[in-house]
Amino acid sequence: MADALKIGIAGLGTVGSSLVRILGERANELARTCGRPITITAVSARDKSRDRGVDLSAIQWFDSAVDMANSADIDVFVELMGGAEGAADQSVRAALSRGLHVVTANKALLARCGVELAVMAEDKGALLNYEAAVAGGIPVIKALRESLTGNTVSRVYGIMNGTCNYILTRMEKEGLSFEACLKEAQRLGYAEADPTFDIEGNDTAHKLAILTTLAFGTQIAADEIYLEGISNISIEDIQAAADLGYRIKLLGVALRTDTGIEQRVHPTMVPHDSVIAQVDGVTNAVAIESDILGELLMVGPGAGGNATASAVLGDIADIAKSRPGAQRVPVLGNPAASLAPYTRAQMQSHEGGYFIRLTVLDRAGVFADVATRMADNGISLESIVQRAKGSEADSGSKTIILVTHATTEQSIRKAVDAIKSGTYLAGEPQVIRIERPKAF
Ligand code: NAP
Ligand code: HSE
Repeated sequence: MADALKIGIAGLGTVGSSLVRILGERANELARTCGRPITITAVSARDKSRDRGVDLSAIQWFDSAVDMANSADIDVFVELMGGAEGAADQSVRAALSRGLHVVTANKALLARCGVELAVMAEDKGALLNYEAAVAGGIPVIKALRESLTGNTVSRVYGIMNGTCNYILTRMEKEGLSFEACLKEAQRLGYAEADPTFDIEGNDTAHKLAILTTLAFGTQIAADEIYLEGISNISIEDIQAAADLGYRIKLLGVALRTDTGIEQRVHPTMVPHDSVIAQVDGVTNAVAIESDILGELLMVGPGAGGNATASAVLGDIADIAKSRPGAQRVPVLGNPAASLAPYTRAQMQSHEGGYFIRLTVLDRAGVFADVATRMADNGISLESIVQRAKGSEADSGSKTIILVTHATTEQSIRKAVDAIKSGTYLAGEPQVIRIERPKAF
């Protein structure tokens, strides 16, 4: 059997400690599958005294991940600390400078400087693997980077944040509050260290930026994403969506248009009978539409220790099986130096259906005025309903819900501005885009 692959793991939290446990439990099977043992020779975290539920006594400890990357006796540096800057950034660069292979689950880091890191890895002939960075355990990086080679991708979209999907599902099914669901997602190890990254959509944006690069061969453009999180989605929206035959999901969507690539992250209504609408809890789903294959939909666990460690383990095993001097798959699908510049399609030209929920004063003529504002902007309505229920019935306000046929973002914004200029609104309008899967 070949020499052991020596790995150093920086970060022993939810993902890192699961990985250490699994590497211990599966050591014999992994050695057989990979043709060589995988041995953890170094670890790093902030607090050496913390109990991580795994035995680290025989492994060299580093207080500093950067020191570990610079000096440990390792072949692979596994970064599981998180954060786009600081220790994660410095240690990954240090490891790549030494020509070490790197495995990371850190989408924030890749979204900020993935192209630079890919150039470093390619210059050194090192592997930079990051399957766990997008959609947890779903092998979507491998699918886009390797399996779909030769396909022209037209759209990639999906549920890419387990925390948000968990929150939306429990709010809908159990009527729990947003705050209670978030707390539970944190307890289960799904949320980011700063959960605003989850709920405000930044985490999905980081993941989408990586998928866009793999799908369209463009440079990573994480700052060019239209972004809305789920923090202002209410139980009322979820119920109204259900009444109209939709469910609300936080989607990341990237698609090729005539004017550039549209990247957006926002709460989205998906038809209730679509597969993606049935994806609940921490589960993620990524759909890829391409010309040769058609539509591919991958569904699986999107966050948590085991799901993420499974993807990290796959990346480590790929390195263990690789042979020195062998041709490497480019880190970002195409050689980093040849990625095309990113051209952003303007959000104003986005086309699709919309759900609009208006809380209005209970006055004569309001319903007609809303319909007129829509017509003035060339917007055709699929449905418009008016309701007064519960406490609203007594408070003198009522709800108008509109679902439009396909129109443009620009038209919707103009119509909503016109409605806002009236005197009958009793709350901020809620606008949610509708996305329709093709095949599923
Ligand atoms: P976590 O539970 O917060 O663990 C982070 C670990 O990194 C801790 O062990 C911490 O040390 C260590 N650490 C933080 N800053 C450090 C520093 N400056 N130097 C050395 N060690 C440092 O995070 P996680 O959930 O495991 O996530 C790790 C990475 O995986 C992140 O990039 C995250 O986005 C990504 N990811 C997570 C999931 C998930 O479901 N959790 C899924 C996919 C990807 P102490 O323990 O001593 O504090
Ligand atoms: N916080 C992330 C999520 C972890 O909830 O999806 C997985 O990337």
